[in-house]
Amino acid sequence: MRLHPTRCFDNAAHDYATLTVRPLSAAMGAEVIGVNLATLTDAQFAEIRHALFRHRMIYLRNQVGVGHAEHAAFSLRFGPFAEDAYTNGIEGYPAVQPLIREADDTSDMVFGEGWHSDSPFLPQPPAITILRAVQIPPFGGDTTFANTGLAYQTLSEGYRALIHPLRIHFSLRDVLASAQAAVTPSDSPIGKLAATRNAAELPIDLKRKVGGAFHPLVRTHPVTGGKSLYIDPSYGIGIEGFLAEEAAPIMGYLNAHLLQPAFSCRLRWEPDMVTIWDNRLCVHQAYNDYAGHRREMYRTTVAGEIPQ
Ligand code: SIN
Repeated sequence: MRLHPTRCFDNAAHDYATLTVRPLSAAMGAEVIGVNLATLTDAQFAEIRHALFRHRMIYLRNQVGVGHAEHAAFSLRFGPFAEDAYTNGIEGYPAVQPLIREADDTSDMVFGEGWHSDSPFLPQPPAITILRAVQIPPFGGDTTFANTGLAYQTLSEGYRALIHPLRIHFSLRDVLASAQAAVTPSDSPIGKLAATRNAAELPIDLKRKVGGAFHPLVRTHPVTGGKSLYIDPSYGIGIEGFLAEEAAPIMGYLNAHLLQPAFSCRLRWEPDMVTIWDNRLCVHQAYNDYAGHRREMYRTTVAGEIPQ
């Protein structure tokens, strides 16, 4: 099924008192204009939060003055930091995760390159992710997003009823296998996974992530009450109680349905841009298409609930 989002989702801007919103695509995403995250008032924060839940992903340009401290403080306004599944943060800011790819890095895998929701293999996956750009390539290095609520709404009543009771198995298994097969520097998040390629046994923490977690395939947003598909082709490996060959057509169909271009938007980064997305409302994908150029980003994640 290939659909366009008309009538199923309204990405129009709401009227806000303290900021302006400019929608990105019909399916999702919006630019927030007129605020700086380093000097945010409570009223501005409340409207940013509202805009995030409405548009699924929002971004702010020209966030000059937002460094690691301001980034971390802004993140904490949404709630405590989530467990970070990949890095140990940077000196002085353990919750600020560096995502840096050097110009001479010719790895055949970059962090976040398959469509995914952040760390769904954890029992309580991060709710929200905040990514700040310091240096971006002259072209490439974009991030695309897809609206999981819109994908759910455009399924037939019959298919929705079929998938409602199902629980999906999320695991680091396939991403770990891809990293172990990749050529990549050892100090990158993917490099740390790749370094386990010859280990007789995986470290206990990695075993836990490969074991993964079972979550509802249709999840309900704890604030808006909206329903979304909870699936992605990177970490979703099965359905509870189903044989692999039984789960594959359901997951294949849902991933293809979710990832059709009509449900997506593509973000072109700029230095000093900060982007915020809600992992309960969208999936995203980075691209390995800027070898020869440096990309420097920093990420925080906000703790989420057990998905319901
Ligand atoms: C991520 O998957 O969190 C990173 C996305 C990106 O680097 O564009």
